[in-house]
Amino acid sequence: MQMNDLIVKKRDGGALTTEEIQFIVRGFTDGSIPDYQMSAMTMAIYFRGMDRRETLDLTMAMMHSGDVLDLSGIPGVKADKHSTGGVGDKTSLVLVPMVATQGVKMAKMSGRGLGHTGGTIDKLESFPGFSTAIPLEEFFHNVETVGMVIAGQTADLVPADKKLYALRDVTGTVPSIPLIVSSIMSKKLAAGADVIVLDVKCGSGSFMKTEADARELATEMVEIGKLAGRKTVAVITDMDEPLGNAVGNALEVKEAIAALSGEHPGELVELCLTLGGCILTAAGLAPDDGAARAALEAAIADGSAKRKLAEFVAAQGGDPDAVYDPSMLPAAPVQVEVPAPAAGYVRHIAASDVGMVSMHLGGGRATKESGIDLSVGVVLHKKVGDAVAAGESLATIHAASGERAEAAARELAACYTIAPERPERKPFIKAIIR
Ligand code: URA
Repeated sequence: MQMNDLIVKKRDGGALTTEEIQFIVRGFTDGSIPDYQMSAMTMAIYFRGMDRRETLDLTMAMMHSGDVLDLSGIPGVKADKHSTGGVGDKTSLVLVPMVATQGVKMAKMSGRGLGHTGGTIDKLESFPGFSTAIPLEEFFHNVETVGMVIAGQTADLVPADKKLYALRDVTGTVPSIPLIVSSIMSKKLAAGADVIVLDVKCGSGSFMKTEADARELATEMVEIGKLAGRKTVAVITDMDEPLGNAVGNALEVKEAIAALSGEHPGELVELCLTLGGCILTAAGLAPDDGAARAALEAAIADGSAKRKLAEFVAAQGGDPDAVYDPSMLPAAPVQVEVPAPAAGYVRHIAASDVGMVSMHLGGGRATKESGIDLSVGVVLHKKVGDAVAAGESLATIHAASGERAEAAARELAACYTIAPERPERKPFIKAIIR
């Protein structure tokens, strides 16, 4: 088999066979297929697409390019959650402990943030002493005993994706549905959960700018998950403005703790109840969405979800007292308000630009090697649809210095669009695809 012939076949719109796809993934992972040929192949896939059988074959070949976790020895239903990435997305910090109180074993591997989106792993490191680099034996042990783990992805899980994503990132081939589906689903399948819930973001702050594109991606991921034998559900949610109020690592942890304390109803909790409901019904632990929702709301009301977060933080070496006293989390020395330039209603908040403000403050990475300041970021006081008076605070900037705070305040003001009329409310949860 020659890679050159396969590139030509895909370039001309042909469907690659299972054996051809396995050859490509094996050869690219072991280095026998060079980057320049793989770049041509990804560009051919970008333009020609793949049918569902090809996408499944690509997903399975990538999944088997490295370690595959076998969680079957752990009693109970094991579940995992993935978000396609957004700004202010602290969902896992609320959802995972909440669902773990109901007897589902949450085994989650997460990434670090890059660019304008944050990563759960970085956020969790706000807890003093917390470790996300835990050995595999401890990962298994904690899933069984605590009922939840959130850890960094091990080096050996889906090595094909690490190489391929880096190549796609610099060759204009990230936004291709079969390549995104195989990238995400190969990692989820390799991580071993029985139930996979996908939070597919849609809007200006996400990969998928339109609902139609988000639906296509969600449907394809759900179908591939099901064909691979896992219960898979996707929820399409709005990412036209940041999720919740806080953007920045420790600030988001504080918001998540507030949500688990019942102090923060709103779209963050709504999203967690929806995703959690999907997990509990798919796991067979609730008869329907209503019953699942009631159980999860009770776990917030009686404090058990917050206690689960503290138990999890302690199990991974962190100080659980910070869950009950968030002032122990990193805090920035300078805080500056951002005044509204005019009275009216908030029409739009450019989510990815807010993510960039947090990154410029030092809260996000420009490159994979950059360090980050966990304490900095932004807390939005006004969201889309809210009325504002001229001069009223739109947001508070948390910064390392006055100079950086002032620059960030100017940038943040430009993220807001204020108009005289109240905008129409759009649904936050757009669809559930089972
Ligand atoms: N996230 C991934 O892990 N892979 C993609 O291709 C896109 C988003």
